[in-house]
Amino acid sequence: MATVSEKKAIVLGGTSGIGLATTEMLRDTGAEVIAGSRRVCEIDGVECVQVDVQDREGLQTLFEKHAGFDFLVNAATGGPRAIGPFLEMDLDGFQNSFAKLWGYVNSVRLAAPLMSKQGAIVLYSGYPARKWRPGTLAIGSVGGSVEAFIRLAACEIKPIRINGVCPGLIDTPMSPLEGDERKAYYEKGTAHHMIPRAGTAAECAAGAMFLLQNEFTTGTIVDVDGGAIIA
Ligand SMILES: NC(=O)c1ccc[n+]([C@@H]2O[C@H](COP(=O)([O-])OP(=O)(O)OC[C@H]3O[C@@H](n4cnc5c(N)ncnc54)[C@H](OP(=O)(O)O)[C@@H]3O)[C@@H](O)[C@H]2O)c1
Repeated sequence: MATVSEKKAIVLGGTSGIGLATTEMLRDTGAEVIAGSRRVCEIDGVECVQVDVQDREGLQTLFEKHAGFDFLVNAATGGPRAIGPFLEMDLDGFQNSFAKLWGYVNSVRLAAPLMSKQGAIVLYSGYPARKWRPGTLAIGSVGGSVEAFIRLAACEIKPIRINGVCPGLIDTPMSPLEGDERKAYYEKGTAHHMIPRAGTAAECAAGAMFLLQNEFTTGTIVDVDGGAIIA
């Protein structure tokens, strides 16, 4: 198992929700952590940098500055997402949902040549990738592409390892709802799941920590979804 302390980790999208929980878990386990996203941010014991995952030059500069780093985690949503019936969907909205994939592709393509050969990467997909439901065609296609990308990239960037965590419905700032409306959204959205509650960002981060540490994993996806996919 890789020892996390003394490792250097870059967490993109590491300033909110699942990415923030991953940043904090890596920091608390002794890693040196750089958290990147577009906002100005301060996180105790973490170097925060402003970077857009769509800005390849910005990413290149960041990775060159930390060349030889050990872990890359990308949890950046990357842009807006289109949800709703496919036949009523604005096609630009559908296409723009793939911003998440391009942010992931940019980061892996540019980081891998500059990472430690013992390094490891984790990306976050999402349960619509394998839970076939009306209204989720765009985000499901993106998630499915992310999972295919992980498996195919694993074949090419070895010995660097790359894996994914597939979150179910997770209570994070991604949902702008508040109060009773928020509570009702998560209750209704998870009522039929095997574990009928929203997951926590920390539960997803724990999946990433497992994959970063376990040196016998690559090209695989860990579902942290409360049984959403089999429901
Ligand atoms: N929450 C869920 O229920 C759920 C379910 C399935 C999958 N997921 C996936 O899990 C991952 C994390 O989601 P979350 O719920 O933690 O989201 P979140 O709380 O909204 O956090 C998203 C993070 O991504 C950053 N980000 C967005 N666009 C960016 C860009 N262009 N460049 C750099 N950083 C960017 C944001 O910071 P800035 O805005 O400051 O850039 C923020 O730090 C995403 O891939 C999401 O699709 C989440």
